[in-house]
Formats: sequence, C-alpha cells, structure tokens
Amino acid sequence: MTTPSPQSLGSKSQMHQDMIDGAYLRNAWYVAAWADHIGDGQLVARTIMEEPIVLYRAADGSVAAIEDRCAHRFAPLSMGKIVGGDRIQCPYHGLEFDRTGACVHNPHGAKNIPSRARVRSYPVIEKHKAVWIWMGDAPADPAKVPDFAVLDNVPELYTTKRDSITIAANYRLVIDNLLDLSHTSYLHEGILGNADTVESDITVEQDGDDVVVGRHATNSAPPGMFAQFWPGHPPRVDKFTKMRWMAPSNLRLFTGICKTGAAPESGTGYNAIHMLTPENERSTLYHFTAVRFGVMTTDDALNRDLQKKIADMRRFAFAEQDAPVIEAQQRAIESAKRSLDPVTLAVDVGPVRYKRILDRMLQAERA
Ligand code: FES
Ligand SMILES: [Fe+2]
Repeated sequence: MTTPSPQSLGSKSQMHQDMIDGAYLRNAWYVAAWADHIGDGQLVARTIMEEPIVLYRAADGSVAAIEDRCAHRFAPLSMGKIVGGDRIQCPYHGLEFDRTGACVHNPHGAKNIPSRARVRSYPVIEKHKAVWIWMGDAPADPAKVPDFAVLDNVPELYTTKRDSITIAANYRLVIDNLLDLSHTSYLHEGILGNADTVESDITVEQDGDDVVVGRHATNSAPPGMFAQFWPGHPPRVDKFTKMRWMAPSNLRLFTGICKTGAAPESGTGYNAIHMLTPENERSTLYHFTAVRFGVMTTDDALNRDLQKKIADMRRFAFAEQDAPVIEAQQRAIESAKRSLDPVTLAVDVGPVRYKRILDRMLQAERA
C-alpha cells in the first residue's frame, strides 16, 4: 500500500473536497496505539494529522507523547533513547527532552538550555486497551473518549488480536465503507455477507452526536464465520448488524445471527471495533479487534481456534478486500479532471448523516 505523492495530485474540486476532505477535528481523542504495543523502553513513532509524534512509557508506567522532531536540527527523537526513566535523548547531539516537551539537558558548551529548546507535548489517556491522544489546543476532556467499554473486563479468549493496518486513503472514505455495510454482500461475499443479506432492512438513527446504522436480514443462510459460532444452528437465521459511528472517526459494530424473529441479543456474534486515525489527507491508521458475545461454543480449544479465525478473517477482509478498493477509490477521486457528483443510493443514508454532524463539528471548531 503506497501513498501517492502530492505531485501526482490534480487540483481538487469542491466535490473532491467533500469526499476526501483534509480537515481534521482537532479537539478530539484519536487512537495512537494499542496500549500493549507500547512496551517499557520502547519509542513508538506515529504521524497523526501530519504531525510527527513519539510515544513512550515513563518510569511510572504512564504513556507520554511529544513531538518527534528535535528542536535543534529536527532529528526524529524516536531514533534516540529513553534516559533517566522519563526523558528522551536525541540521537544526533544528545539534547534531552522530558514528557512536557521541555529540553532539560544540554551536554554542550556551558550546558545552558536555550529558551526555544522545546518540542510540543500532547495529552494522552490509556483507556479501553488503547492509548488515546488529544490533538487540539482546547483542554483535553477525558469524558470525550469514545465508548469502547465492550473491550473492558472480557476474557482474552473471547477477544481477538489487537491489530492495525494502514490504508492509503482519506479517513472519510474508510468511514463511508464502515457505515455502509451493504458492501459486505459483495466485497466480503461468503465470509461476512452473502446474496441473502443484500435485501436488508436499513435503519438510521441519531443518538446524540452518534449515528447508528442497522441492517437486519431475515431468514438468511448464516454467513460463513457466524455459522461456526453456533454448532447446530438452524438452516435459516436472522443476520443483524448495528454500526455506531462516534465522532470523529471511531466505530463500534454489534453483529451476529439469531433465530428468525428473535431479539439480536439472544443470538451470537461479536462487537467489532474500528478506530480510525488520520495520518494525513490520504493515509489512515486503522486499529481493530473484536469481542464475542453470546458465546455458544464451550470448548476452549475450539474457542482458541475461533479467536484466531475471526482475527485472520477480519484482517483479510480489511487489508485484502476493503483496502484495495478504498485506495483505488482515493486515486480515482484525486485524478478526476472534472468535478465529481456521486450518485446517492438508499444505502448512503448513514454516510450522509455522519458527514453532516462531522462538518458541523468542524465548523464549530473553526469558529
Ligand atoms: S538534532 Fe537533536 S540534538 Fe541536534
Ligand atoms: Fe468491509
């Protein structure tokens, strides 16, 4: 997956802007990494909203995030090392920066520390097994971390690998993909959807600032993965999906199968987690995992097998099926020589609704 160079881009029409808008909501939490992917002594480099950032664990175990660009000659601090428990030493000439971004040690000359020797620091919070970073100038509000409580206090055996990929496309195209699950019947035919699930009842609700898109396919053959969750399942079932978008770019899906006409909660499936972090206008860092609910398989060995199968299947679906189409879509939009005006279908109600909310939030932030 490669990112097209800025030189390869044509000029963008207003419609291009709407679909692949480079504006980011800054006063919001974004996932920088899975918490267990930042080990002691490690320096983890990220680009978030075009800003280079380095994350590390301080001596007390808490995560710190500072600008990954030394104030001296701009070497990436992530190439340096942690010294004294809490500071990063620049790899180039040894300036040391603490978690507030202040230079606290200059090994050269009279060892004075120039007042401009500082880098930016970012508020971070560890919650729901992820490290969240606040990119804006407004005070960081811990209450605004999106609700992924389904990840807390669950047996590891029912949770799949905490994984991530990078998609070379604007984060909005990835949200569009996730809020319009009609694509599962085509792009993911056989594993996440099938011909029976094309004809689904679609509901779109707004819950505060969240958008919830439901798809309910009654009397369907159970799609591949879900059939395995339910030994002895009936030949026809209901397949349900409820995708919740939480601003700016985090989504939680409740999906599975149940007896025809029964309540979804009585069935079996998983809560699927999708956390999108814009790296730049045309690259998105995508963290994902899934947590099973209504587990009907009691054998540990089988559950371990399913845990791996779900993880592998989802990674395959996102990296090998969604990403190539979304990346090609990005290139097709960028390279258009005329203004594009997309046709709107019944399945687009969710994407249209979230865009309206996100654009309102962006406008409020600019104001
Ligand atoms: S570039 Fe960091 S100390 Fe010189
Ligand atoms: Fe998909």
